[in-house]
Amino acid sequence: MIRAFPVNDEVNVSPVIAPDWRPDSWQDRPAAQQPNYPDADALQAALAQLRSLPPLVTSWEVNSLKAQIARAQAGELFVLQGGDCAESFADCRSDVIANRLKVLLQMSLVLVHGMRKRVLRIGRFAGQYAKPRSADLETRDGVTLPSYRGDLVNAPGFSAAARIPDPQRLLEGHMRSAMTINFVRGLIDGGFADLHHPEYWDLDWVQHSPLAADYQRMVDTLGDSVRFMETLAGGRVSDFSRVDFYTSHEALLLWAEQAQTRQVPRAPGWYNLSTHFPWIGMRTADLGGAHVEYCRGIRNPMGVKVSPTMTTEWVLDLCRVLNPDNEAGRLTLIHRMGADKIADHLPRLIEAVRKAGHQVLWMCDPMHGNTVSTPNGLKTRPFDRIMSEVEQAFALHKACGSTLGGMHLELTGEDVTECTGGARNLSHEDLERAYKSQVDPRLNYEQALELAIKIARIAD
Ligand code: PEP
Ligand code: CO
Repeated sequence: MIRAFPVNDEVNVSPVIAPDWRPDSWQDRPAAQQPNYPDADALQAALAQLRSLPPLVTSWEVNSLKAQIARAQAGELFVLQGGDCAESFADCRSDVIANRLKVLLQMSLVLVHGMRKRVLRIGRFAGQYAKPRSADLETRDGVTLPSYRGDLVNAPGFSAAARIPDPQRLLEGHMRSAMTINFVRGLIDGGFADLHHPEYWDLDWVQHSPLAADYQRMVDTLGDSVRFMETLAGGRVSDFSRVDFYTSHEALLLWAEQAQTRQVPRAPGWYNLSTHFPWIGMRTADLGGAHVEYCRGIRNPMGVKVSPTMTTEWVLDLCRVLNPDNEAGRLTLIHRMGADKIADHLPRLIEAVRKAGHQVLWMCDPMHGNTVSTPNGLKTRPFDRIMSEVEQAFALHKACGSTLGGMHLELTGEDVTECTGGARNLSHEDLERAYKSQVDPRLNYEQALELAIKIARIAD
């Protein structure tokens, strides 16, 4: 949670410390997707510094998010999680951060309007600097180098020097995450999300979009409702000017995660205080692997990506290992199936998880199962496929008597051209204009709002 305000819905955390677990017990397991640092002493020196720096979030905030996710599990809230596939150090800039916050706030406003539910916002930022890669090496024109693994590890340029993992980047990442979170907290506390300030809700370059009129109508209606409530209440309702905002990133680079794993006074157990909501990615969800080992011992609410290649048993085992006490709010299953596979795989998982009695929040990531390559070799995602997976996800959950409780998206507040389709029907050729992502293609500002408007209509 970004804003500093009294935490009034803390959960009772059970005093359990996971058996046989230590912040470093992951080191006894095979750890996928870790860089090979050439200088072990330099790594240890950077980690020692990282351990001594203040954390980015607090245990109160982490517990408060867990309580809110428990409410989302009960169907009271919808979770919107979004941000870049990979943040870059260079994009730690005020305009980029403010625009990303703005699009997430605008999308959540649209969702509140359509779903008549509170929306809980979790940014995929302030630490989303490490990336899993399908291949350890990359070859171009006969030259083979280690893959780029995100700015937390190495640099994207294709040279031997750029690709050497550099532990100083762990400190740089921590600083940039701190600057990001600080700016977001300041924006929100200063009234950036205040419904009394329609200028913050303006549509920038999207104002001539085919969907602008729909959006404006929703903002006007909500503004009228706020004024109506305030007339009834006889004064300004300050809660309308503030929102909750939490952060998340993939818990991938375990050296960094361990260095941020702390105990705090008067709360049992260990917290990862680099983010509110870490998640385990698809490539690191092995039951016997280091990531599951690390994550089972921290108190944070957390997510795990669920792909169509996972067996039902595997998913049930993940629930047992990651949430042995079946604690409300602890575990979110983020399914990322692809529009052509979701109907074959989601129902078996919903049934099995329900039958086993596991409490989970179900979220849909309609991005990662729908990536295709253009003839020019760019990675893209067709808007229609993303939309199709979203529609199927809502329908399949409903048919199984379950609830889809959230959406996990890769998006930006910028005018990039990375995903095809949408209201402006971007083509493969259009992608060349402003393709900026170093890793996966993101929805641009307009496509993200369009998706929110369409989701709001489905759920209405
Ligand atoms: C991601 O979220 O950027 C990612 C790599 O996802 P997944 O683990 O689902 O492939
Ligand atoms: Co991605």
